[in-house]
Amino acid sequence: GLVNTKEMFAKANKEGYAVPAFNFNNMEQMLAIVEAAALKGSPVILQCSGGARTYMGRTVVPMLAKAAVDVARDMGSDIPIALHLDHGSSFEQAKDCIEWGFSSVMIDASHHSFEENIAESKKVAEYAHAHGVTVEAELGVLAGIEDEVEAEEHIFTQPHEVEEFVKASGVDSLAISIGTSHGAHKFKPGDDPKLKLDILAEIETKIPGFPIVLHGSSSVPAKFISMIKEFGGEIKDAIGIPDEQLRGAAKSAVAKINVDTDGRLAFTAGIREVFVKNPKEFDPRKYLTPAKNYMRDFYMEKIENVFGSEGA
Ligand code: G3H
Ligand code: 13P
Ligand code: NA
Ligand code: ZN
Repeated sequence: GLVNTKEMFAKANKEGYAVPAFNFNNMEQMLAIVEAAALKGSPVILQCSGGARTYMGRTVVPMLAKAAVDVARDMGSDIPIALHLDHGSSFEQAKDCIEWGFSSVMIDASHHSFEENIAESKKVAEYAHAHGVTVEAELGVLAGIEDEVEAEEHIFTQPHEVEEFVKASGVDSLAISIGTSHGAHKFKPGDDPKLKLDILAEIETKIPGFPIVLHGSSSVPAKFISMIKEFGGEIKDAIGIPDEQLRGAAKSAVAKINVDTDGRLAFTAGIREVFVKNPKEFDPRKYLTPAKNYMRDFYMEKIENVFGSEGA
């Protein structure tokens, strides 16, 4: 069945890789993720936002995640798979997800004060741990959109706060802000995208071995941006987080890296290609299958070249 992230993260940090956390919104994306992970023998986190849960329905989400476990087994793979709530916004939401079969939850109270963030994260951690569920909290604020909250500027995580935060809250992993951001428009063409790896290194000295999480880590592949434009879409040229930076982070105490946007871009590019090349097509299977395969192939490449979790 689904597992929590405890052993996944311990193994990842011992062996110097990061577990991929890919967001899904439907069956095709779930299949793309699990097929990629199973083919590469990588642990994987199926990540579901509040919005994705509203879209699929709270009864469907755990069914799809449990089906993912069966799909992997059916492919002859015994990779660990977690179902994780992305950017949980309240204790009530986290509790409901746990009741509905999530094996891991995030409580994102990072926009509150330090004290309130600790109190909210601790409340979730106590409930979750009583149910065998692991908890991710966040300290610092990413620039860009986080569900309904939009921040103009990064508020980088302050290394001197992390030790007290993880001890007082009792959470199992910590999302930090070191220059990543959500969405497709992280950096403009011509920018030199750099993460604050010095802050990451300082955080690691404060909480050695503690699992760190990077949100907003899509690389925004030029291939998908140009496909979307070629096949009638409108999207600004943008740059994401370079693979090289993520590769370095994966070798550190970063145990989980979140990618949502790249999957959306791959999926959209695939659908648009079919619609433009074969405008007579109206069988959903004929445009969703190539879309799913673009997503799966992208994730496979990412697991192998960036996460380092292949065959883990
Ligand atoms: O961090 C946000 C994730 O990309 C989820 O996005 O709330 O639109 O599903 P969403
Ligand atoms: P991206 O928008 O960079 O894919 O980030 C996803 C994320 O952090 C989900 O929580
Ligand atoms: Na790591
Ligand atoms: Zn995020």
